[in-house]
Amino acid sequence: MSEATPVPREVKDLKDMNDLVSLCKRRGFVFPSSEIYGGINACWDYGPLGVELKRNVKELWWKAMTDREDIEGLDAAILMHPRVWEASGHVEGFVDPLIDCKKCKSRFRADKIPAGAVSSKKCPECGGELTEPRQFNLMFKTFMGPVEEDAAVVYLRPETAQGIYVNFLNVHQSSRQKVPFGIAQIGKAFRNEITPGNFIFRTREFEQMEMQYFVKPGTDMEWFEKWKQARIEWHLAHGIRRSKLRFHEHGKGELAHYARAAFDIEYEFPFGWQELEGIHNRGDFDLSRHQKFSGKKLEYFDEDSKERFLPYIIETSAGCDRSLLVALVDAYRFDGERTWLSLHPSLAPYKAAIFPLMKKPELLEYSDRIFGEVKKRFHATTDSAGSIGKRYRRHDEIGTPIGVTIDYDTLSNHTVTIRHRDSMAQERIPAQNIVQILEQKFASWNA
Ligand code: GAP
Repeated sequence: MSEATPVPREVKDLKDMNDLVSLCKRRGFVFPSSEIYGGINACWDYGPLGVELKRNVKELWWKAMTDREDIEGLDAAILMHPRVWEASGHVEGFVDPLIDCKKCKSRFRADKIPAGAVSSKKCPECGGELTEPRQFNLMFKTFMGPVEEDAAVVYLRPETAQGIYVNFLNVHQSSRQKVPFGIAQIGKAFRNEITPGNFIFRTREFEQMEMQYFVKPGTDMEWFEKWKQARIEWHLAHGIRRSKLRFHEHGKGELAHYARAAFDIEYEFPFGWQELEGIHNRGDFDLSRHQKFSGKKLEYFDEDSKERFLPYIIETSAGCDRSLLVALVDAYRFDGERTWLSLHPSLAPYKAAIFPLMKKPELLEYSDRIFGEVKKRFHATTDSAGSIGKRYRRHDEIGTPIGVTIDYDTLSNHTVTIRHRDSMAQERIPAQNIVQILEQKFASWNA
């Protein structure tokens, strides 16, 4: 149970993404996909702890959305009618300008390398000659049915949002929601990114957590502001540091074809400030396009004012994998000796780990009883392998907020030691109050 008295050390954040990649592999958060075959570029698999963390991210988001009376859930198919992607503008406009180096074969997005390199056609990597930019559509194509012909082309959805727009009337009519109301969805999206990378930051297969909020035209900017605030508060509530988050407003040249206004919530990664989530005022672009392309009226009838209109849409669009990456990057701490993930308990894969001090039957039996109680309330684990110091370290690295140790004193006075991951401080508490005490500690974690 005892640990060397903590010597105050300088605590550092994550500087090198490779340190996180290796922790994730070693501890079972994230593995390279198809690794025994050499891996496949920009695809990753979530291991035992990764799925727990991801489930927590999704459940927190889902709860924040659907606990509200004005938001309904949806789970639309990944494969949609191909006309959806014509209406949405993706067939025509979801393109990146691709440039190749003829010498070193590096591939770039023309809008992501210095303009001078594009105009001089000089590779920023090796100085070799660059090709002219060519437009490359990011949607993955496949075929529906047995014949691979143009008429059978379908796309893997590049965003979940369109499934919501085409179901707007179904949800409105079946749920009897009135504008303003929202539809929330979590699901896979696929983009054939030219320059994926930075671990799970930009991948070709990922999950989105999107909510589309349908409002009366004229009230859109008010709702846009409300959702901007609600979304940044959601990230803060789960422990992401305020100093690492900021808003970035899209200027005129940056706005997507559908957007009247857009802000990104950005996070400061070791590789710079990058988008974590987008909040967009999409106006009536989506519903008017689907109305036009499908020939079906998608107007909303307001029974109070007897008006008929196409609602405007405020979208909040977060990457689930990217939120998970932010949770890991933000939580990573290293003090020269010890590495730990300072994850908020709501995100941590295990909320508590129960440690019998030694593998002695009387300690194991007591420990099992405590574990049985704790796991009724929290996702917890028990660990009796190796020295207690090693076990603490193992759980520090996977972000378990609290360790509960059962020793010989426990047998005589029914108290256990709880150890705090971040401070390594230890307290002796009555064993019978363990669940209640954990509840209190987690409830006041950020306070
Ligand atoms: N419906 C709007 C939309 O899809 P987006 O800005 O293209 O907007 C929203 O994507 C979010 O999805 C991003 O903020 C990011 O978190 C996530 N995302 C987008 N492309 C991604 C990729 N290739 N890999 C991982 N996450 C991605």
